[in-house]
Amino acid sequence: MIKVNNVSKKYTLKNREIFALNDTSLSIEDSKLAVIHGKSGSGKTTLLNIMAGLLPPSNGSISLDGVDPYLLGDKELSLFRNKNIGYIPQGTSGVSSLTVLENVMLPANIYGVNDIKEKAVSLLKDLGLENLMDSYPAELSGGELRRVSIARAIINSPKMIFADEPTNDLDKENTEFVLKLLKEKSREGMSVVIVSHDEAAMKYADDVIRMGSIQ
Ligand SMILES: Nc1ncnc2c1ncn2[C@@H]1O[C@H](COP(=O)(O)OP(=O)(O)O)[C@@H](O)[C@H]1O
Ligand SMILES: [Mg+2]
Repeated sequence: MIKVNNVSKKYTLKNREIFALNDTSLSIEDSKLAVIHGKSGSGKTTLLNIMAGLLPPSNGSISLDGVDPYLLGDKELSLFRNKNIGYIPQGTSGVSSLTVLENVMLPANIYGVNDIKEKAVSLLKDLGLENLMDSYPAELSGGELRRVSIARAIINSPKMIFADEPTNDLDKENTEFVLKLLKEKSREGMSVVIVSHDEAAMKYADDVIRMGSIQ
């Protein structure tokens, strides 16, 4: 269960205060796919990053299966995130000097899990990337790179997945593929939170969180 309790995020620029997020509360149950919807600048990425343990709120608190990640020390927080949270960042990413397979294994290798290759290969096969395992990120298309990001986010079988505009820039076929896959993960028991203004995402949503209307 993901809980957000009266969370705000304030930035001070010169003498001006900007609320990227203002007194927001919500909860997302396990095995649900929630879509955060709203216009540009409404605080979607800020909310997602706060829920993913990446950005401490200025006010309020969050709870991820009963744990407030911002009460953990740095090292505990890294471990907690590595084990429980899969994050699919906006845009394309990947460590350019590592192959696709090495990129996918990275989150497992960081904490000394070394018998992960079989799982990574099987995940890449599921995602239709078996022929690209030894390629480098620069050699892949946008849709293929997004699938690599997803494989990397789920390699440690996290309890929660957070994705920022995961279908942005993808064609219809890749969009459906990515959304179906994330839906499948939620059915397997993961909580999935997607930021999206893509109408295609709506039909997969168990919950729609409309930014602007909840603030
Ligand atoms: N680091 C930051 N410093 C100052 N303002 C920020 C920062 N991050 C976000 N904002 C502002 O907060 C608002 C919400 O941003 P964001 O969460 O990225 O919105 P969205 O993802 O919905 O487009 C925007 O007005 C943005 O300019
Ligand atoms: Mg955003």
